[in-house]
Amino acid sequence: MILGIESSCDETSASVVVNGRKVLSNIISSQIDIHKEYGGVVPEIASRKHVEIINYVIKDALKTAGVSLKDIDAVAVTYGPGLVGALLVGLSAAKGIAYAAQKPLIGVHHIEGHISANLISNPDLEPPFICLVASGGHSHIVKVSDYGRYEILGRTRDDAAGEAFDKVARALGLGYPGGPAIDKEARRGDPFAIKFPQTKFPGSYDFSFSGIKTAVINYIHNQVQKEENVNIPDVCASFQQAVIDMLVSHTILACSDENMEKVCLAGGVAANSCLRNTFKDTCDKRGIEFYCPQLILCTDNAAMIASAGYYEYIKGNFSELTLNAVPNLKLGAT
Ligand code: KG4
Ligand code: ZN
Repeated sequence: MILGIESSCDETSASVVVNGRKVLSNIISSQIDIHKEYGGVVPEIASRKHVEIINYVIKDALKTAGVSLKDIDAVAVTYGPGLVGALLVGLSAAKGIAYAAQKPLIGVHHIEGHISANLISNPDLEPPFICLVASGGHSHIVKVSDYGRYEILGRTRDDAAGEAFDKVARALGLGYPGGPAIDKEARRGDPFAIKFPQTKFPGSYDFSFSGIKTAVINYIHNQVQKEENVNIPDVCASFQQAVIDMLVSHTILACSDENMEKVCLAGGVAANSCLRNTFKDTCDKRGIEFYCPQLILCTDNAAMIASAGYYEYIKGNFSELTLNAVPNLKLGAT
């Protein structure tokens, strides 16, 4: 029974998970309404808000699960990557609990957590599989050959997919976070109305989303200069379609090159309805099994951290109480 703690960005979360797959509680306190005013996450405000609420969130997670600290086998916590001040709040809380309750501490990589969300939502899922991790900070194609064994096959060379959603939404005046707003507008738009460029690197699964973001911003400026209308649903649908084409084609290519039979999605962008549907259709046509987490497990939460922590626990991979936050932690470094 693992107590998970997550505070790497703008969600304070604590969760109790049994055997890596059964969620007894998953309390998520989001700061989105506070950061919305600034058009993005303000790191200093994020840290302060985590400090204010973390003890209540942890207490609530234990109470909802109907357990106390003595029932817990280990405390798993995100120690990177993320905002350093934000990470330190969750990490300090976890270390304090581990020390006081004499329980092992397990440092978890945030992306490892996102990938593990699939294990919770799909109880029969076992590695090996290919996982596309697309969030506000990352866009990685990861080969998961076993529990806790990760190899990055492709990554973004500039912006993350979620970052592109957020920046395009900002240019369209749709507010923060951009992904859900674009997802909603795109449902009323024509995905083929405007042709935005897609970047490909021959012989590589890598992504680039900076070009398409700039193309959308230039398109908006041109329309405004010509005093012509910007059709927001069409811009959203066309932008989203181009991003999805890149994400799906690269991931499926990696899957077939690696002779894998399963594809998973992870990270905040995995909540995108069109992305999920396109992956499902493409995988069905090719006989690939497709998995994705429930919507609540796509964005940041502590259940995914507790799940990843469980697989480290059974391998005996514990962390020292000297563990520090590592804002740019690399996957596979744990
Ligand atoms: O995983 P996450 O909660 O935090 C990070 O680790 O970054 O991901 C947040 C990102 C944001 O960029 C947000 O705009 C994007 O996920 N996102 C979406 C959707 N929901 C959240 N992007 C596209 N469509 C969505 N429905
Ligand atoms: Zn995340």
